[in-house]
Amino acid sequence: MSETIDFALLTAADREPIARLLHRALVHWYESRLGQGARFGDSHEPFTLFPDVYEALDPGECVTARTESGEIVGVCFSHERETHVSVGIVATSPDAGGRGIAKKMMSLVLEKAKRLGKPARLVSSLLNLDSFSLYTRLGFVPGAIFQDLLITVPDTGLTAAAPVGIECVREAVLADAPRIADFEQSQQGIRREKDFAFFLRNEVGAWRLLVSEAADGSVNGFLGMSTHPSCTMIGPGVAADEETAIALLWKALDGLRGKTLVFLAPCAASALVRTAYAWGARNVELHVAQSTVPVASARGIVFPTFMPETA
Ligand SMILES: CC(C)(COP(=O)(O)OP(=O)(O)OC[C@H]1O[C@@H](n2cnc3c(N)ncnc32)[C@H](O)[C@@H]1OP(=O)(O)O)[C@@H](O)C(=O)NCCC(=O)NCCS
Repeated sequence: MSETIDFALLTAADREPIARLLHRALVHWYESRLGQGARFGDSHEPFTLFPDVYEALDPGECVTARTESGEIVGVCFSHERETHVSVGIVATSPDAGGRGIAKKMMSLVLEKAKRLGKPARLVSSLLNLDSFSLYTRLGFVPGAIFQDLLITVPDTGLTAAAPVGIECVREAVLADAPRIADFEQSQQGIRREKDFAFFLRNEVGAWRLLVSEAADGSVNGFLGMSTHPSCTMIGPGVAADEETAIALLWKALDGLRGKTLVFLAPCAASALVRTAYAWGARNVELHVAQSTVPVASARGIVFPTFMPETA
């Protein structure tokens, strides 16, 4: 069987089949390899958030693989940004796996990145060696390693006292988007103002964005979060140092009372990780940042995320 693989503008009719494909592919892969399919729940419904958010954020940047009858058997979300092309979730239907569909979808994104003269970036699971291998075969080079930490925030909030630096953290407003983007570029060498403006307009999905400012008023950290019932997750974020990262994380968790959620923290940020343990966080997975051209001079403490998956 041959599939048509191309960038596509998703229509309302694609929403449900894509959600079913994402859910089925993840449950199948994690259950058959790791016995952990249950972690994705028993309904595809929450996965409709992916096509909804990604089509609103980057119309026409989703690669789909469609059979002759029009069935979607593969998806790969890409996001073109000022400095790079980031890649979101990649999934192939279990019935169509092992036939090179994921590789062809990724190759299209890489060709586009090459045409634009930009590196491609993503965050890949270190438990899913099939996807890790797929990316490394295509030229992605592993960089920083992140711990996925699961935490339940008590209904009454964290029992730990608010940390130093909390007074510097506030809710961001739309006018902060360029300043946040400038800060990230100064630390990480990447720029994605569009994402921050998207969170702050808050029209599709449900988002909050915190910003931390130093005494001189300059941005020294930011942290986004998805508060949508289908996906409660902290990130993306960057902080200049661990103290600021801890203050941002505390504030984000305080706003998610009664929720159980996952966030990613750099393995190298040991003070941040040990603080998260003290607040009750538990390790559940490891991820690695991968890029076709690593940013050698990257600084700061990064909180990656999967929704939207912008590396
Ligand atoms: C991971 C996934 C996307 C792969 O899709 P697929 O269409 O079956 O992949 P392909 O057939 O294109 O194969 C990809 C390449 O990786 C290689 N590969 C796969 N597993 C490998 C392994 N363990 N070691 C080395 N290479 C491996 C394949 O050989 C192939 O390369 P080749 O064509 O050069 O031989 C699919 O299994 C899936 O949807 N999983 C669930 C969702 C998921 O976890 N997505 C990734 C995280 S977002």
